[in-house]
Amino acid sequence: MSHDLLSFFTAWIAAPGRVGAIAPSGAALAELITRDISADTGPVLELGPGTGAFTYQLLKRGVRQQDLTLIEYGSDFMRLLQLRFPGARVLWMDAARLASERLYDGAPVGAVVSGLPLLNMSPRKVISIVGGAFSYLRPGGAFYQFTYGMRCPVPRPILDRLGLRATLVDRAILNVPPAAVYRLTRRPQYKLMTRDGTPAAGANVSPIKKERRASEDCAV
Ligand SMILES: C[S@@+](CC[C@H](N)C(=O)[O-])C[C@H]1O[C@@H](n2cnc3c(N)ncnc32)[C@H](O)[C@@H]1O
Repeated sequence: MSHDLLSFFTAWIAAPGRVGAIAPSGAALAELITRDISADTGPVLELGPGTGAFTYQLLKRGVRQQDLTLIEYGSDFMRLLQLRFPGARVLWMDAARLASERLYDGAPVGAVVSGLPLLNMSPRKVISIVGGAFSYLRPGGAFYQFTYGMRCPVPRPILDRLGLRATLVDRAILNVPPAAVYRLTRRPQYKLMTRDGTPAAGANVSPIKKERRASEDCAV
């Protein structure tokens, strides 16, 4: 654990904007962000795993290493993850390239777990990451994102553009600093799209309407 603290702190000194935290997430946040995930979720895509705080918790929830794809941009973290999770697929890549890669055949992913510092990224990059991740998510799948901010880190115009809604899962007050987890899902009328933005075969796509805003939706 002290090794993880040191790795994180060293990485943060070198690239504070990219790493986005001076220490790995704690147990309360790891439990919260993985709360809805189990062995039945199937393939799980984790973005920005760092030293693996959420990854360990995913394994405890019953997710098999073979079902895990870890996308990490920090080369030291990437090597550490390869050693710690030899059965998982660990990719050294920028999550903004998700849409231009072909990580899976089709969209089999049941959940995306993201530790990425979205608040430090441009709107264009956030769109690439979230849109790219959703291209692999099966219908009913969800994207889990934590934030240290007071609001959902994916702003309302981006949610509208991608046809998504965000719901606060809960807050991890015990995390240092306290954090919140949001669940992003497709809006009901928004059906599966392919990565180039065209409707998937058989998809019944209606224009994105302004949906009534549920009280628990992201207030951004
Ligand atoms: C706030 S840390 C979270 C680490 C870990 N999930 C945790 O909660 O302890 C953010 C992580 O995202 C990684 N990261 C930042 N930008 C990235 C990008 N564009 N693509 C992939 N990983 C990225 C960083 O290297 C770092 O490991």
